[in-house]
Amino acid sequence: MRNRRDFLKQVGVGGISLAAWPLIARTGEQGVEALPQDGFGFSTAPSLQNPSESGVTVAIGVNKPSTAWVEYGETEQLGRVATGSRHGLKPYDTRAHHVRIDGLRPGQRCFYRVHACAVEFKSAYDIRRGDTVATDIYSFRTLDPAAKEARFVVWNDTHENAETIAKLMVQTAKHGADFHVWNGDVTNDNYTEDKMVEHYLGVGGQPFARETPLLFVRGNHDTRGPAARSLPRYQETPNGRFYYGFRHGPIAGVVLDSGEDKPDTTKVYAGLGDFIAYHEEQTAWLRRELEQPYIRDARFRVAFCHIPLWWADKRYPEDQNDPRSRWHELLGDAHFCMVISGHTHTTAVFPPNEQRPYAQIIGGGPKPENATLICGVATQEKVSISVLDTEGIELNWYRTFAPG
Ligand SMILES: [Fe+2]
Ligand SMILES: [Fe+2]
Repeated sequence: MRNRRDFLKQVGVGGISLAAWPLIARTGEQGVEALPQDGFGFSTAPSLQNPSESGVTVAIGVNKPSTAWVEYGETEQLGRVATGSRHGLKPYDTRAHHVRIDGLRPGQRCFYRVHACAVEFKSAYDIRRGDTVATDIYSFRTLDPAAKEARFVVWNDTHENAETIAKLMVQTAKHGADFHVWNGDVTNDNYTEDKMVEHYLGVGGQPFARETPLLFVRGNHDTRGPAARSLPRYQETPNGRFYYGFRHGPIAGVVLDSGEDKPDTTKVYAGLGDFIAYHEEQTAWLRRELEQPYIRDARFRVAFCHIPLWWADKRYPEDQNDPRSRWHELLGDAHFCMVISGHTHTTAVFPPNEQRPYAQIIGGGPKPENATLICGVATQEKVSISVLDTEGIELNWYRTFAPG
């Protein structure tokens, strides 16, 4: 059996260099001039992004220029192919591929296998296909508004800490979640796209990431560095935006992007931040979205937002002219039961009070001794939150019950 160090080497988690994922198959394509056997392979195992009631996006890292596709189906016989085509072109990338599987039913189990083929552009009319590799077969379930129960886990502020991520993986696998929320500050900053594959797709080696879809929440550190603008290439979200809503069972979720933690005018940003305009855009969207039936009709409403809206009795942002300050009133008026956040690197649970009709739940920090796994279970009657440390010990909990 592989030990944890070997595993981390293979999936390239948190600062450990990427190695090719073991090749399950390696074949040249008949009738096409093949490249020499040159070590083409996956640099991560597959992971699942942007889940919906009808599909999911399969993401995987590769170590050379290549194309990719996904076989899928209701049984392990598979039988259908998702091409990943966009604007008439099949995927071609040097680092990672994202292939959307769509047209599924709510709550459907879907089996899948990822294929990739090395491709070399000699010229526009001389494109050569090389080795083909494939993963093993895995499965996942789509989101399901009619599900009786919703189980989820939340990570936050992992900041590239390999030891923390390895420990969180162990606890996460025990919980059996329907979806996984990564609540911001995955990285310290984004300087190169190679590192982004490692940081954002590298968790794909664990069974939970191959089979449990991720809902991504951007943190302030994820906005930093010259490559931060490439984040949508590696983390796919609904409509390419970092603010969106979803529904699974008794829960309607809203994801908000709290942006940077200092004003746009702060000198260190050199005038490159434009978050006030972005937060105005999000606020207008949130006001409209809260009227949608999938949110209004849900038994419980939960928001995920990297920077908390409150710490005890102190409200954020302090500047009431900041558009984010409207989120508090909007979520309160829409009867949200909790906001789940990170950012402070100190875990806390603040139950509702006279100022705040929802609970503010905050996860811990990047070091293993401060990190937390927030586990949630929602039924028709209640939402139960348990905040665990990296050894699985419960640090805090919160429960809220459906009215009437
Ligand atoms: Fe952080
Ligand atoms: Fe943060």
